Amino acid sequence: MKIFVTGGTGYIGSHTVVELQQEGFEVIIVDNLFNSDLGVLDGIERITGTRPGFECFDLTDAPATRDFFSRHRDIGAIIHFAALKAVGESVEKPLEYYANNLNSLMNVLSGAREFRVPGLVFSSSCTVYGQAAVLPVTESTPRREAESPYGNTKMMCEDILRDVARVEPGLNVIALRYFNPIGAHPSALIGELPLGVPNNLIPFLTQVAAGIRDELSVFGDDYDTPDGSAIRDYIDVVDLARAHVIAIRRLLEGKNERNHEYFNIGTGRGLSVLEIIRAFERATGVKVRYRITPRRPGDIEKVWADTTWANEVLGWKASVPIEETLRNAWKWQQHVGRER
Ligand code: NAD
Ligand code: UFG
Repeated sequence: MKIFVTGGTGYIGSHTVVELQQEGFEVIIVDNLFNSDLGVLDGIERITGTRPGFECFDLTDAPATRDFFSRHRDIGAIIHFAALKAVGESVEKPLEYYANNLNSLMNVLSGAREFRVPGLVFSSSCTVYGQAAVLPVTESTPRREAESPYGNTKMMCEDILRDVARVEPGLNVIALRYFNPIGAHPSALIGELPLGVPNNLIPFLTQVAAGIRDELSVFGDDYDTPDGSAIRDYIDVVDLARAHVIAIRRLLEGKNERNHEYFNIGTGRGLSVLEIIRAFERATGVKVRYRITPRRPGDIEKVWADTTWANEVLGWKASVPIEETLRNAWKWQQHVGRER
């Protein structure tokens, strides 16, 4: 069975390609390499023994996308990861974010419809919940107005998928709402490759631990949380990748109850920034220099997932302990540090 993975050389995509290949799926990746590089294919090949199919083009190019589908008529399902994802940058460049994230989805959906691909899994985000009034958030927690153009593209993509699925009974869609994906493959052969100064907590923290940066800024210690720092639900990237394989199987086996479904993909446990620092130090034995700084504008105070629906209906559960995830992130940092 051939799975079309958009954005498959990216961070989450590459880990998912590994899990798909290890489960016997054939993979064809399309990526424009805007935020990834070809070396990722070597990493995937070293882990799995198989080099996935790969084509480099921009999915906002409608004729190129249609041509791709016309040449691959045996695609059994799609996982659509390709998107621009930097929240802050999206505020500066809203048009680029809307054009990229919406047009690529619409081109992929047009291909799925024309060439009768029955299933699509979409990368959504817990950003659709914003600061929820009640925690943990379930899939029926109301979505809130997006804080950024990036977040808005996730809401709009979910809506496009819902509306298209409604009138296309042959197309089944699952949107996975990721909480905070972190970590790397335990082999340290693939991981996250942030460009320039990382915005996200874990890549910044591992760069501080590696001596690349002086100290970590902890954005705020005056939140209404037990230690005052903000709380997130950090999900191991391999656990997250496994959720995609399970979602794909659900679609292929026709087990979905509706033709568009949503699942929260998190651990169900919230950890504060200070707890993450302590867990990293415990897991690796490496001290992290940090300083408390003012809150980062636009950040929410706390969010974590109710994963009951994913556990019971999808049959997926997070399994990697946080210390192991942080050790893998550290191993990856050391590997990147050596090779670059
Ligand atoms: P990433 O940037 O590592 O991977 C995305 C890949 O898509 C990149 O390789 C990029 O080159 C490619 N791409 C982007 N636009 C493209 C286009 N028009 N045509 C072809 N290729 C294109 O990001 P990631 O962290 O792996 O995220 C994957 C998906 O998960 C994204 O949709 C992202 O919004 C979503 N998501 C990520 C997080 C997170 O914290 N990483 C959280 C929630 C949701
Ligand atoms: N943080 C710091 N210092 C840093 C970086 C982050 O204290 O240098 C804190 C943040 O304030 C936040 C937590 O660490 O409390 C996590 O921050 P990240 O930037 O790693 O992640 P966010 O929760 O802000 O956002 C991430 C993705 C978004 C996505 C969202 C929900 O970046 O794309 O998760 O999935 F929408």
